[in-house]
Order: sequence, then structure tokens, then C-alpha cells
Amino acid sequence: MHPVPALSNAQPLDIPRKLRSDWTPINYDLRDAWFPVSHSRDVGARPIRRIVHSQPYYLWRENGQPKAAEFHPERLQALRQATSAFTGGSGFYPVVERYGYIWAWYGNPDAADALLLPHIPFLPIDGDIPGYTQRTVRFDASSALSVENLIDLTHADFLHANTIGDGISDSDVVEVEWTSETVTRTRTVAHKSVAPIMRWVGGVRAKFQDFRAVLHIHLRSNVCVSYPRFRPGYDVPNLQPFLPVGKYRSRCDVTFNTTAAPAPFRYVMPRINYIIQPQDNSVVRPQNQRYFEQSERRDMHSRFDTPGTRYRYQMEQLAERQRQGDFAYGSDAEPGRDISKLLGMDD
Ligand SMILES: [Fe+2]
Repeated sequence: MHPVPALSNAQPLDIPRKLRSDWTPINYDLRDAWFPVSHSRDVGARPIRRIVHSQPYYLWRENGQPKAAEFHPERLQALRQATSAFTGGSGFYPVVERYGYIWAWYGNPDAADALLLPHIPFLPIDGDIPGYTQRTVRFDASSALSVENLIDLTHADFLHANTIGDGISDSDVVEVEWTSETVTRTRTVAHKSVAPIMRWVGGVRAKFQDFRAVLHIHLRSNVCVSYPRFRPGYDVPNLQPFLPVGKYRSRCDVTFNTTAAPAPFRYVMPRINYIIQPQDNSVVRPQNQRYFEQSERRDMHSRFDTPGTRYRYQMEQLAERQRQGDFAYGSDAEPGRDISKLLGMDD
């Protein structure tokens, strides 16, 4: 067991039954946050387009500097009158380049502050990381549902058993902690059947391994900072930012920093996204559709799923605050604070 330092030790709340049954992950549109809208390497002189909550983001570079605008740069002058509050009438979104991503602000541009960027301790600030670590996958589901799927790491035991491993172990402990802006789920498993991918290409000969996975979720942006550690085996620190394209789609420009692991595992591990994504999508795609339909019970959520319940609750708290017009970050929440310890990187 690796105890995780406590952040905000509120007593576990009894989550209202109404929220559990009314959870609609297709409707969250949380503002005033940085979104990693693209891998840095995908942005050059020629504009590309990304979408955040149905709002268009054109991205390009001028003299190497990233630009993000509501319209194609050639049309920007002509459409100046049509610019929205998201760019304060300028047409340009606040933009920062960090960790190998272009981060653009979604919300009131006056509230944009680089201090609100998430801290990602395992990615180089200047983004200097090999291209094989970066992949793009898409899900036919809203971002919140995609995140919820990731929180429930036990799903990997049956859905991804062929790559990550089955559910057989001596002990399996799941913990959750949170702030008003983040939820952190830690799963610690002792003596688990070794992950097949580590046997095939990782040179791990043992039949069993200990496993700990920390998932740190930024609620507004769906940026998931994930730190799985396998012993014997390797750390597979990864970033999974679920860009909320719309109610039916999220885009995930992932980075798997396997640079410290030996070859060929180092190269193969980031590519298993292409095996895992269709497995996840086969679950979230039909599930997403259910939230558009009126039915008695739209999911099989159990209140004993503590991290999932906490995620739903914290999302709803944040959404409720924003519905009241409060977009400020709470005093308990610093998105940019150092999370190396929280992720268990120093152990
Ligand atoms: Fe999955």
C-alpha cells in the first residue's frame, strides 16, 4: 500500500439519490479552463481546426508562435463583427504552449491565467518528447462519459484483459480523494496476473506483479493525468485529455511517456491505444445514446462505486456553481500545484 497524501478530507457525503439517477454526462459544458486542443507537432503555418463544446478553434503558427482564433485567419478580418464573448471580440483565444500541447482557453478570456494550467510532472515543459509517445483516438461519447469509463479501472480487467491483464489478484484497494476542481482515484493491486503486454514485449518474466494506478482528473477540462506503476515492470505515465467536441464525440490526443522503459515495450505501449480504443468505444458509444432517451434507468451505476459516484457529485457541484454564475476557482483548488507526490512518483 502506498498511502496517498490527503488533499481535502471532507467526510464522505451521502450523494443524493436524485443525482445518481439524473446523471447526464452529455450535458456538461464547464467554462473558464485551459484545454489541450492539439499536440504541438500538429500545428504549423497552415491552420487546422479543433472544436471545444461546439465552439470552433482555428490553430496555426506565426513565426513559430501558436495562434488560436474563432475563424480561419483569412476570414478573421471580414468576420470581426461575428466574434463571440469567448474571444472578447478580438477573435483570438488566449493560448499557451506547454508539455507538447497547444492549450487554448474556453470561457471568459479575461479570466485566463497560465497559473491555472494543470501540472504534468512527467512531461517536459518544452514538449521535447519523441513522436511515438503521442497518439490520437476518438470516442463516440461525451467527454464526461469517456472520463467515467476511465475512472472505473476495474473495467480493464475484462475489457482489456488481453493487453493489460485479468482481474485475478490477492488484494485490490480503490481509494478516492478530491477538491472542488479535481478527483483522484488510486487503485492498488497486489499480486496481479502480469499484464500480457509486459510479458510479450517488456521482458517481464514474472507471472504476477504489483500494480498501482493513480488517475488525477481535472473536472472542467476532462484532462486525465494517469500514473500506472507495475512492479516488476515499468511506469507508464500518460496524459489522456478528453477534448469535449460535443455531446456525441470526444477527441483524445494522448501522450504515453514510455521513454524510460526498454525497447520494444517503449514503442509498443503507446500503440495499444489502437487496440484499447475500440474496446472502450464499444461500451461508451451505446451507453452515450441512452442519455438522450427517456427511460427509467439509463445506466447500471452502483453507489458502491465510490470514485465514480464522487466524480458525478463533484461535476454536478461545479456545474451548479457555474449555473449560478460563479466561474471562480475555489481556494482548495490550484490546478497548477505540484502533483508528483500525489501520483506516487517519488515512492
Ligand atoms: Fe478502457
